[in-house]
Amino acid sequence: MKPSLTLLTLAIATGTTAGAKLAQTPQMGFNTWNSFKANYNESTINHITDLLLSLGLKDAGYNHLLLDEGWSDMSRTADGYLQSNQTTFPNGITPLAERVHSKGLKLGLYGDSGILTCGFRPGSWGYEERDALTLASWGVDYWKYDNCGGFQAMSNAPQERFSLMRDALERTGREIFYSVCEWGFQFPWHWGGGIGHSYRMSGDITASFINETGCPCKTAYCLNTGYAGCSVTSIMRKMREISVYQKPGHWLDMDMLEVGVGDMTVNMQKTHFAFWAALKSPLIIGADLRTLKNESLEVLTNRDIIALNQDSLGKPVHFVEDVSVEGSLQVWAGEVKGGNVVLIFNEKSYPQEVEVSLKDLGLGIERPVRAKELWSGKSWGKIDSVEASLGAYQTLVFRISR
Ligand code: GAL
Repeated sequence: MKPSLTLLTLAIATGTTAGAKLAQTPQMGFNTWNSFKANYNESTINHITDLLLSLGLKDAGYNHLLLDEGWSDMSRTADGYLQSNQTTFPNGITPLAERVHSKGLKLGLYGDSGILTCGFRPGSWGYEERDALTLASWGVDYWKYDNCGGFQAMSNAPQERFSLMRDALERTGREIFYSVCEWGFQFPWHWGGGIGHSYRMSGDITASFINETGCPCKTAYCLNTGYAGCSVTSIMRKMREISVYQKPGHWLDMDMLEVGVGDMTVNMQKTHFAFWAALKSPLIIGADLRTLKNESLEVLTNRDIIALNQDSLGKPVHFVEDVSVEGSLQVWAGEVKGGNVVLIFNEKSYPQEVEVSLKDLGLGIERPVRAKELWSGKSWGKIDSVEASLGAYQTLVFRISR
């Protein structure tokens, strides 16, 4: 469908920015990619929409329904417009957006800054203006923009490609969240904040806690970030150097959650979720909601952990090197409104006794402080150190009131 003339006029008249107000806290939602890849259709999406409500996920804050690779057709219309996959979404995107909006949710789609998406569907290079208007005319609220592209992705700088679409989206006059997916190539934490509301900082996550399937870089500043296959802990490792770049308005995106995907233990899932939350990553569920186990749903809907992510200060935790033990114990700490947060992660595959003194964390804690452990929900009273037995891969998360 062609964008309407009214929209075109509006776009030219306003030229205004959708603005960083869209991303004052990290975005939350569900994305199709981790569980469905490109294999989903209108009825799958309607089902997922309904599950976001009936499972209590919308109430917990997950308000975006994001269609990744697969929603669009293998070719544009004869006159050059993006169109939905004519078999799986025969009714187009407008009725889908209307249904999603009627449930109080927002709709997102996926595209690419080159001539093709990673799945060889049409990319937006050279069509930025037209595609942005098409999205706006359909009622789309969120646009994930990828880096595969083919020739253009490699020969034109990402700053150029991603800015072109930012400007086009802004000119539509519709508020569209812009999620930059550049896999951490060219270190986007140095420039992505000026372009997207969020930007990916690594290759694709895989449903594995420790083992990589194709993610050679172990640190953020490394020239072969890999395109896909990063474990939960390798993405956490990269954040040691770059969590400092997290700011309201533009968030480093640690990629979609693998909570409830694959065979991670509950402790692994809790650790994964706690770090994504406390590091202020977008919280985008990647699990198949139709088969989600209760134990994973409980992890994903823990209100106290979500509150860390959505805290109004928008400050991420940082790695506390002095009290951590490489390969064994990780301590991360930071500020939240009214206090602090401390994460203590047993990196071993067996239980460990740990002792961490709060005054050593650089938080200015000199006296005993009131602490609550968020996974158990238990108050620890006033403490000046944590002495605890941690299970394999377990993370204790303390919220400290000051
Ligand atoms: C990758 C991207 C993934 C997913 C996939 C779809 O480049 O990082 O998150 O969108 O493309 O083909």
